[in-house]
Amino acid sequence: MSPSAACCFDTLATNPRWQTFTAEEHRKVGAFVRRWRIKPGDRVLEPGCGSGRLTAVLAALTGPTGRVLAFDAAPACIRLAAQRCLPPHVTLRTARAETLALAPESFDHVICFNVFPHLVPQVGIARCLAAALRTGGVFWIAHTGSRAFVNAVHRRGPPALHDHLLPTPRRLARLLHEAGLKEVAIDDRADRFLARAVRRVS
Ligand SMILES: C[S@@+](CC[C@H](N)C(=O)[O-])C[C@H]1O[C@@H](n2cnc3c(N)ncnc32)[C@H](O)[C@@H]1O
Repeated sequence: MSPSAACCFDTLATNPRWQTFTAEEHRKVGAFVRRWRIKPGDRVLEPGCGSGRLTAVLAALTGPTGRVLAFDAAPACIRLAAQRCLPPHVTLRTARAETLALAPESFDHVICFNVFPHLVPQVGIARCLAAALRTGGVFWIAHTGSRAFVNAVHRRGPPALHDHLLPTPRRLARLLHEAGLKEVAIDDRADRFLARAVRRVS
């Protein structure tokens, strides 16, 4: 991550817009949760968890027999997430996706929620995150806006984020295949984006 991008995310941490869900976002997250099918006992990895607003939802889905590892590059975000007093089966870490060491095959789901465009280089980081999935584990990329909406927001945001974009479906499918994933399915709608891919046998 570039220093200027890191600076943007430190600022974002203090923006209340990223600390709770609006009613509309809440509805979309509910729809994502139905697709994710996270069960009690599952192990979930959440890169770029921000203030932990989704982490709390994931923790409720896995229950105490599962676990959630949520991390973010911005220390201010992790401080906010820590203030939520999440249950003990949640681990919060300040870490960058490009350098975090993850045990191989130790998760059932990777949930990239409103974060994938920022995980640069995307193929390298997707490969590392995918390697942390068990065979058959599922990698998700979810956004509460369409691809066009997300990219437009980033293009008119701070210069450091102008090239933090969701690839075209064709390029994203190729990228996820290169990262060791299969069965890529991409659902780009007017009001949300969801991509799913399954960890191949290693
Ligand atoms: C748009 S925010 C979304 C936060 C959260 N997922 C949510 O929806 O509330 C993107 C988050 O990703 C984090 N991030 C960006 N690049 C990252 C990286 N390379 N490694 C870890 N976190 C990163 C930022 O610090 C920021 O908190």
